[in-house]
Amino acid sequence: MGILKIVYNPDYIKTRTFIDLKENQFLDLLPLNNLQSLPFLKTGNTPLYRISKLNGAGLKHTLLLKDDSQNPTFSFKDRASAVVSAFAKENGIGTIVAASTGNAGSSLAGMCAAQGQKAVIFVPAAAPKAKLTQILMYGATLVPVDGNYDMAFDLSIEATRRFGWYNRNTAYNPLTIEGKKTVSFELYIQLNQHLPDRIFVPVGDGVIISGVYKGFEDLLNHGIIDRMPVIVAVQAEGSSNIVDNLGKSVFRANASHTIADSISVDIPRNFRMAADYLMKYKGETVKVSDKEILQASASLAGNTGIFSEPAAAAAFAGYQSFARNNQLPAGSSNVVLLTGSGLKDLNAVQPMLEIPAAVKPGMASVEAFLKGKI
Ligand SMILES: Cc1ncc(COP(=O)(O)O)c(C=O)c1O
Repeated sequence: MGILKIVYNPDYIKTRTFIDLKENQFLDLLPLNNLQSLPFLKTGNTPLYRISKLNGAGLKHTLLLKDDSQNPTFSFKDRASAVVSAFAKENGIGTIVAASTGNAGSSLAGMCAAQGQKAVIFVPAAAPKAKLTQILMYGATLVPVDGNYDMAFDLSIEATRRFGWYNRNTAYNPLTIEGKKTVSFELYIQLNQHLPDRIFVPVGDGVIISGVYKGFEDLLNHGIIDRMPVIVAVQAEGSSNIVDNLGKSVFRANASHTIADSISVDIPRNFRMAADYLMKYKGETVKVSDKEILQASASLAGNTGIFSEPAAAAAFAGYQSFARNNQLPAGSSNVVLLTGSGLKDLNAVQPMLEIPAAVKPGMASVEAFLKGKI
């Protein structure tokens, strides 16, 4: 239930200027020979928006939204796929396999399309249609598994051994953490070399949160920062095996069930690393219900124009829960990591909405339709 961690040789690090503070830019601390090996699609360097009001009321703390749905395939996973694909390119590997709840798979498929590589993607057959569509449109081989993500994961590992492929699975390939950590470098730079007080991260397998920690830990280890931000692990109430097992000597997993498919996992594959980081750096945790996730999704979209998929909206629901319970001191700065686009899972929000019946083309019908609405 864990993943290897890439530790850089200090002599190697001396040859890399991974943050150029004068230029205020992140350069390179990745396990690649050449950044030119990365796909040409613009990955990372996503916007960080400062939100001063919600529902018309000013905020006493600072709210910052890191919008990673702006990545090429519309999710945070592109950070990891780009590095894995580049590594494969440098090592003459032509086929990459991944198991996924949908985003990692569609992301890998997109990056492989950009690099002329083959992708084989195992997903639960019930994954959102948009994610399945993306995988097919990018020309990957889709293996829809009649079962859940955990089954797709195990099958992909078996197939990797059988066919000798290179595997990108999150919580299996340590390069994924290296790609994900770049978000922490970016945050530090976007905040003019300051740390936020809290970062709300949606958690399923626990790889994204480990990547966020690893990035800040790299900065800490190289003396660029002198403390860690507080990272808040946000899980869905129906899929909370990391939060529930923190600090326990015996791991007990409950079957998952949540509307947020991307964070719906029975066995969190990176439990050990995520839990160790949370304990070591005194991370915080919060669980949110499906109802809170859907409300957060609507509130985020209506207040800011950012439409997030349920897993990402869960992070915002976690932030809202902290705000409601007065856990965010005035003046504190709080980042919410928005990891995927709402267009990836329209079915999840559909029950909250009613698309009106068609209006007859004529001003009288429009007037009647708008009565009481504007
Ligand atoms: C949009 C989104 N948010 C959050 C997560 C959770 O990441 P992890 O499984 O690494 O905890 C995922 C993973 O699939 C995701 O796709």
